[in-house]
Amino acid sequence: MDSFTKYFRVLFVLLTVFTAMSDACWTKRTYLTLTNDLGPGMQLSLHCKSGNVDLGQQYLAPRGSWSFDFCSSYWGVTLYFCNMVWNGGNKWFDIYTGARDSFICGECGWSIRPTGPCRNHHGKVDCFAWNNSTSVHKRLK
Ligand SMILES: *[C@@H]1O[C@H](CO)[C@@H](O)[C@H](O)[C@H]1NC(C)=O
Ligand SMILES: *[C@@H]1O[C@H](CO)[C@@H](O)[C@H](O)[C@H]1NC(C)=O
Repeated sequence: MDSFTKYFRVLFVLLTVFTAMSDACWTKRTYLTLTNDLGPGMQLSLHCKSGNVDLGQQYLAPRGSWSFDFCSSYWGVTLYFCNMVWNGGNKWFDIYTGARDSFICGECGWSIRPTGPCRNHHGKVDCFAWNNSTSVHKRLK
């Protein structure tokens, strides 16, 4: 094996290790699934973000769902918030806050209803009010 081939082998091993490391969580991984429960015939358009992470625009048919996962911060400061738009509604909600969810959501489902989102953790359902969009917009500035 010439040194050039050796060099690439080492590089390949290092890349594999770094890829595996960046995929792992130092803390726990959190899994969230959002389901459109707005009602029959209601399409949901949603857009979630966390700091500079943009999860992109999602479109959910009635009863359709979408999932994402992330590494929650050890310090409980993780925040994901979403803008939800449907025919007759344009709302904001903190879909994940460390203070509210870190001890509950390893895996949580969120039922998106016109009255507000309900968190389902192994059958225990807690409903929340939509966030005050004035205070959310202040945070975005
Ligand atoms: C949004 O609402 C949730 C649930 O009531 C609450 O935990 C969170 O602190 C609120 N965020 C803001 C910015 O008001
Ligand atoms: C929303 O937040 C703004 C600014 O923080 C406040 O002035 C307003 O009263 C709040 N509205 C509701 C419905 O809580």
